[in-house]
Amino acid sequence: MIRSEVAENLEAPLIARERLDGEYIVLTFRHPAVAQEARAGQFVMIKANTWPDPVLRRPYSVMNVDPERATFTLFLKAVGTGSRHLADLRTGETAGCLGPLGRPFTLPPEGHEALLVAGGYGIAPFRLFCDQLLREGLRARVFYGGRTAGDLQVREPFAALGVPLHAATDDGSAGHHGRVTEAVEEYLETRPGAVTLFACGPDAMLQAVALLAERRSLTAQVSLDPWMGCGVGTCLGCVVPIQRAHEERPHFRCACAEGPVFDSRDVVWKGEDASCSWRRAQTGGEASGSRAG
Ligand SMILES: Cc1cc2nc3c(=O)[nH]c(=O)nc-3n(C[C@H](O)[C@H](O)[C@H](O)COP(=O)(O)OP(=O)(O)OC[C@H]3O[C@@H](n4cnc5c(N)ncnc54)[C@H](O)[C@@H]3O)c2cc1C
Ligand code: FES
Repeated sequence: MIRSEVAENLEAPLIARERLDGEYIVLTFRHPAVAQEARAGQFVMIKANTWPDPVLRRPYSVMNVDPERATFTLFLKAVGTGSRHLADLRTGETAGCLGPLGRPFTLPPEGHEALLVAGGYGIAPFRLFCDQLLREGLRARVFYGGRTAGDLQVREPFAALGVPLHAATDDGSAGHHGRVTEAVEEYLETRPGAVTLFACGPDAMLQAVALLAERRSLTAQVSLDPWMGCGVGTCLGCVVPIQRAHEERPHFRCACAEGPVFDSRDVVWKGEDASCSWRRAQTGGEASGSRAG
């Protein structure tokens, strides 16, 4: 079942807000369908009702859910009009919210350690994913990168779950001094067993994770971050070139409906020759051994 079949469109009241450092904020909304049905990697299309602009809702990953209270949380970085209006909401005010949408991450095979690689606000889906992984008795480890320590605002929830977290910053102000994928490589040199990669963050980071996975013959699921207008496969604003193992050429697919999570081998990355299928032939196509989440 495509999980967006259970999506509901509601005026969701803001229940709580927690201002973090910089432009970051955690918002909790009441929305029973999202709270009960959302899986890690799924998102909502949401817009504050306090302002007429922007016209279109914006996509945000579901960070956490509380089915008993019928609430879910978002981790938001205010970057423009839509996100600032959401960040300015007061408790009791509402947002138009449609969700849960999209395809979630799928669980790794039994015995694999899940390596969760996040850049900036890409940490959001991994809070919920850790819950799912731990519930299934699977191991998780987070690699969290940002420009500076202030970009790594969501660390405590992983410590509370007992999930190890490796920080990496471009300026060396926290954790590994350099790229988050370098921290992953370092860990892989000493890793005790089988791993599956999961990544959410900027395009360049996702592509670096895809290359790393290819070099080491690992499976990686990546959550893409294109512009989205509708979130339900109607506007075609979010299309990305995808070429699956059995396909001779790439097809433009809606990241909102068929993603945002894809097997990294299927994504035709920027600068990659779209007609080149050697990589797919080498790595054997579709992810094997994954279980539905
Ligand atoms: C599936 C999905 C999940 C997402 N989850 C989260 C999340 O959990 N937390 C979060 O903070 N954001 C998330 N985003 C990004 C978020 O949707 C954008 O930041 C938001 O749309 C910006 O809207 P705005 O009106 O505030 O900014 P706009 O006015 O639309 O843009 C303001 C500036 O931000 C830039 N910008 C807009 N979108 C992005 C983007 N996606 N990446 C980089 N720069 C951008 C624009 O180029 C422009 O310079 C997600 C995006 C997708 C596709
Ligand atoms: S966002 Fe409209 S088709 Fe995907």
